[in-house]
Amino acid sequence: MVRPPRWLRFARSAARPASLAALALTMSACSFIEIDSPLTTFEPAGPFAERIDGLFWPVFWIAVVIFAIVQGGIFFAMWRFRDRPGAKEPKQIHGNAKLEVLWTVIPALILASIAIPTVQAVFDLTECGPDAITVEVIGHQWWFEFQYPEHGGIKTANVMVMPVDQEVCALMTSADVLHNFWIPALNGKRYLVPGQETLLRLQADEPGEFWGHCAEFCGLSHSLMRARAEVLPAADFDAWVTAQQQPALTPAEGSAAGDGFVLYQEKGCTACHAVRTAEEVFGPEDGAFNGPDLTHFASRSVFAGAYLPYEDLSYEDALKEWLFNPPKVKPGSFMPNLGLTASEIDSLIAWLETLK
Ligand code: CUA
Repeated sequence: MVRPPRWLRFARSAARPASLAALALTMSACSFIEIDSPLTTFEPAGPFAERIDGLFWPVFWIAVVIFAIVQGGIFFAMWRFRDRPGAKEPKQIHGNAKLEVLWTVIPALILASIAIPTVQAVFDLTECGPDAITVEVIGHQWWFEFQYPEHGGIKTANVMVMPVDQEVCALMTSADVLHNFWIPALNGKRYLVPGQETLLRLQADEPGEFWGHCAEFCGLSHSLMRARAEVLPAADFDAWVTAQQQPALTPAEGSAAGDGFVLYQEKGCTACHAVRTAEEVFGPEDGAFNGPDLTHFASRSVFAGAYLPYEDLSYEDALKEWLFNPPKVKPGSFMPNLGLTASEIDSLIAWLETLK
């Protein structure tokens, strides 16, 4: 039998590790699709995220083609001019003005053609349109606050409610350190800077829920600083606005909720949190250091920086865990461990659940 040429023997011996690597790569791609990946940028849900997606893919494929050409050239040269017994040294070439001009001009043209639409998009995505509704986004360690100045000054936390097919102009700042607001299905990320205002346009084509996350390291519980956008049909959004504008009801004295309301005042919760009833505001003045406004706490599907409840933990069990020891759940939390007893926690939860 004829001994196969050396390149073929090399190819055969390299085939197994290469195919294993290819398999691992393919499988990692599968898991990327299979697992729940709420922060993927590959599922744009509105025009602004689509704009980014529309830039990404052409740039990606241009890069793939260039990669293939360059790597192909390298491998070809490695094989064609490899050292062999008795082989002469290949012809040495030093400089080729035509080639060098060509491989400088072509990449420059490619980069320019990528840069123009990219720079345009960067500006377009952060300058709000004339018909946008305003939502103020304030970063705190470690939760996002949302205020609706055009809707009676609604204040909410962790969950940003917005109407479908309607541009939202996020007017963003930070109450403490640098944060970064990012809901990948709706737009790219942008900084929240103390003492400055930054803008971000958000819009969704379909009702739904979209996860976001703080994208700048901002202290101990940065990794637990999430956000959620809830996109509602226009009528549902209007109903939500009306409900959020209502004051909280004062619970009946002596009921479990009534006991919880008393505890809320006696345990010092009002130093940071506010609950607005028809009669008065139980909490700090506007602008003071504050935790989330609790007037409509139970209308939010998530709390504690949108970290709770997670996985299969029920809403109520998550609340118990949180009230029992907040800094254990969120390291560094400014909500202290108040040393609440189990029955005190039950009363507080009974009251909190009335804050729809
Ligand atoms: Cu806020 Cu990271």
